[in-house]
Amino acid sequence: MSSAAKPVAAESASWQSPALPKIAWGKGSYVYDTEGNRYIDGSGGPAVFCIGHGNTEVNEAIKAQLDRVAFGYRYTFTSDPLEQLTEIVKRRCGGSLKRAVFLAGGSEAVESCLKIALQYHAARGEMSRRRFISRQRSWHGNTLGALSVSGFKARREPFEGALVDASFISAVNEYRPPANVRKEDVAAHCAGELEQEILRLGPENVAGFIFEPVVGAAGGAVPAPAGYAKLVRAICDKYGVVMIADEVMCGAGRCGTWRALEHDGVEPDIMSVAKGLGAGYLPLGATIYSERIAGPVFQRYGGPLTGHTFTGHTTACAAGVAVQTIIEREKLVEKVAAEGPLFMQSLKDALADRPYVGNIRGRGFFIGIELVADRETKEPYDCGLQLFMRVRDRAFANGLICYPSGGNVDGVKGDQIILAPPYNATRSELGEIVDKLATSLSQVMAAL
Ligand SMILES: Cc1ncc(COP(=O)(O)O)c(C=O)c1O
Repeated sequence: MSSAAKPVAAESASWQSPALPKIAWGKGSYVYDTEGNRYIDGSGGPAVFCIGHGNTEVNEAIKAQLDRVAFGYRYTFTSDPLEQLTEIVKRRCGGSLKRAVFLAGGSEAVESCLKIALQYHAARGEMSRRRFISRQRSWHGNTLGALSVSGFKARREPFEGALVDASFISAVNEYRPPANVRKEDVAAHCAGELEQEILRLGPENVAGFIFEPVVGAAGGAVPAPAGYAKLVRAICDKYGVVMIADEVMCGAGRCGTWRALEHDGVEPDIMSVAKGLGAGYLPLGATIYSERIAGPVFQRYGGPLTGHTFTGHTTACAAGVAVQTIIEREKLVEKVAAEGPLFMQSLKDALADRPYVGNIRGRGFFIGIELVADRETKEPYDCGLQLFMRVRDRAFANGLICYPSGGNVDGVKGDQIILAPPYNATRSELGEIVDKLATSLSQVMAAL
């Protein structure tokens, strides 16, 4: 068995590439294809596999649940896994985030966030509050509602004209501030934009503001500056706007706190979480909301009018319970908090002298590396080069899975590589990820 994949048409492959290898099995931080090639999980999928692959305890929990019953439909039964996962989520969120709906993934979770916000206003007789505000360079999902509030040009384009109207304010990125805004003013400026947009629309027409506390695919692991989330919280409170944190990618411990916004000392009204909740063992997401939101919704409607056939799926919840039990017992969120800065520093050390590395940012085990043609001017590479995909393909050929993303600069230009390893990756595995990325970058740049 070789320890690295054979180079595959590295410079030309795309998402549609027919040359994908066939996955065979995985263990810990590694997955293997049917040819025997081994890949280290630097971000296996978009920040999904937070406890690594082939975990026997999770697999046994899933099998045991299947042997009892696969699924009890939500309008007929509750179940131990559903109740246990609700308790875990309540405990991990703390504060007043005590209600949860479990779904099959991130887009469903975001849809439910939007719908519960609308239902909350309807229950209070504020039917004019229908409009959502979001940010440019954000990603909230592939269903039409979630896509409508996503500021991701390339992914929206074929659907323009059919999407629900939403407002988009500036992306919040200290490395690339809005025009004429100083780095240190980004938080206040961007929060101010939210207030202006609420006033422009009329607060009585605004349902909610949705944002990613640390932007994932659309930005490349971009945390908001200190103080931003608190300002947003105050503005939402002032105008009766529901604050929605989309933590599908950055939540469930990925950033070193179970809720990403915990870091900012802020509680949203509603939040979504997905990828790390079930760690890829089964499809699982959740919409979590506060007692303040639940009050009118339950009083007027008896509960949220959202959900699907497989909402609260018993075996998916059993997988989530097993995953979250391991994360809590092994103190993996604490590990991410402690080792995240070391991981970031080792990347900075390895890439310090590379003129094409413009910015390394992120939080915990969620790190973005932005590539630039000119470090001084921050000029991005020609988007025709598809540099982020070249790096992805070269890294893959070298046995490293990382997550590429493009368009961070203006919706089209910009190349970022996201690293989001398993929380339980060893120091030596983290070192291997850094080495393989550094080598892959050298090879791609030498070939440009
Ligand atoms: C922040 C964020 N929200 C929502 C989604 C949609 O989740 P899913 O792909 O599970 O539907 C994603 C997926 O990448 C995401 O990163």
